[in-house]
Order: sequence, then C-alpha cells, then structure tokens
Amino acid sequence: MGEIVLAAKCTHVPTMLMSEQDGPVKGKRQAAIDGHLEIARRAKALGADTVVICDTHWVINAGFHINANDHFKGLFTSNEFPQFIRDMEYEYVGNPQLGDAIAKTASDMGVYTLAHHLDSLEMEYGTLVPMRFMSREHNMKVVSVAAWCTVHSHDESRVIGEAIRKAVEASDSKVLLVASGSLSHKIWPNKDYAANNGTFTISSEFNRQMDLHVLEMWKNGDHATFLKMLPEYASFCCGEGSMHDTAMLYGALGWDNYRQKCEVVTEYFPSSGTGQTNVIFPVQ
Ligand SMILES: [Fe+2]
Repeated sequence: MGEIVLAAKCTHVPTMLMSEQDGPVKGKRQAAIDGHLEIARRAKALGADTVVICDTHWVINAGFHINANDHFKGLFTSNEFPQFIRDMEYEYVGNPQLGDAIAKTASDMGVYTLAHHLDSLEMEYGTLVPMRFMSREHNMKVVSVAAWCTVHSHDESRVIGEAIRKAVEASDSKVLLVASGSLSHKIWPNKDYAANNGTFTISSEFNRQMDLHVLEMWKNGDHATFLKMLPEYASFCCGEGSMHDTAMLYGALGWDNYRQKCEVVTEYFPSSGTGQTNVIFPVQ
C-alpha cells in the first residue's frame, strides 16, 4: 500500500539557478538550494520513489490537469523570465499510473481532472527547478499537477489534494508531495525593480509581516486557524497561483485536522518582491 511519506512547501525562484552561475547572484541562493537537497534526503530516507509537485507556474483555465507522461526530456527556457532560466537541460522519469489514478480519483470525487501523456506538454519551472536540485540527492519519478488555477475554488483544489492522497494510498508508491510556490507574491513593479534592488527585497512590509506570521502558525501547528485566513491571505498578499498549491497540500494532509508542527528548512527570504521559503510538513 502506498503512502505520502513527506510533504513540503517549496520555493522555485529562478535565482537558485543563477546562484550557481557567475554573476551578481552567485552563491546568494545557497540556503534555498540546501533546503531542496535536505528535503530530498529526508524523502529518500523515508523510501519515497515518486515526487508529486503542485506547480504554480502551470496556468490552467478550465478543469484540472496532470502531466502524467512516462518520460520528460528537453531544453527549457522560461517564457516569463528568459533572462533567468534558459537552455536548462532536463530528463526525468514519470509515474503515469499514479498520475492517471489521481485524475480518475479526483473526477470520481466530483472535480473534473484530466491526465495527459503528451511529449509536447512541457513541464513548467515550478516543477523543473525543484527537480533540478532534489534529483541530486534522490532520483524520484515525477508527476506534475497544475496549480495556477484561474477560475477554480480552493475547495476544488482541496479535493485535488484529497484525491492525491487517496490515489497514492491505493497505489504501491511512496510519495514526497511538494507545493511549489511562494508565500506572498507581489512582484516589484517593473519601473521600481532596479531602484529597490528588487532581486533581493520584498515589495511590501505588510506582506512580509503576514508571511512571518504564517510561518509561526505553521511552526506551531496552528493549521486550522491558517486555513480560515487562506482565502484572504492569498488574495491580499497576491499568493502565487492564488495559493492553489497550498490548498492541494492541505487537502492531502487532512485539511484542518492536520496538527503537525512544520519545520522551516530554509529561512524566509525575499526575492523579486515576493516572500520565499522551504518548509517541511511532517506526515503522521
Ligand atoms: Fe514562481
């Protein structure tokens, strides 16, 4: 019988790649990289064979969608940030059985979801950045779930999370579940970016204070209270992908019945105006 052995909320900022290249960002995101490596080490120790990544860079406009291909190989340049992520080679193995099972389970639970097996359906960098670093420590199969949901409710994304858990438990896979997205996500206005050293700062002190408060709630295991404020937090603080990755994560973990104390493995840091971190959500 399968199980989710570990869960995490993860950053995927492009500057993690630049941190390993010569230039002004060199070394600056080592803590974020180390966080990914640590999460992968823990997943390996717990026997994870597959990572399911809820990706806030995969935008969807109808239904829910899962990239359940059996093999991913390509050369990725970001449409959003071609100056930051370019010509990134990748090759990963998928878990089509699990991806298909998640889609069927979610649809059976009333949330229409399609799994796709298309070589031309590329992964987005909310999946590719974590995979780039985590795969150095542990070679897992990958399933990518779209989590930039433009016309969807958090209640539906909660069901997607519940379906992930149900499908995993009916499979023979041990899974690391990753919600790939930031905390607050108000990117600096283009005209203000340079003057504010935008790569390394946050655009709103209000957002920073809210993010720090949320991290305290997570560390204290006060998830039930957090979930009461999730819709407004996602709205007022511009949560990445409206924080559907986070709704999926909590759906998988039991929503407001989840009581575990989270562990911050990368201290909160600002990036391009947004609030970023890596946080482990232990699984009972
Ligand atoms: Fe992002």
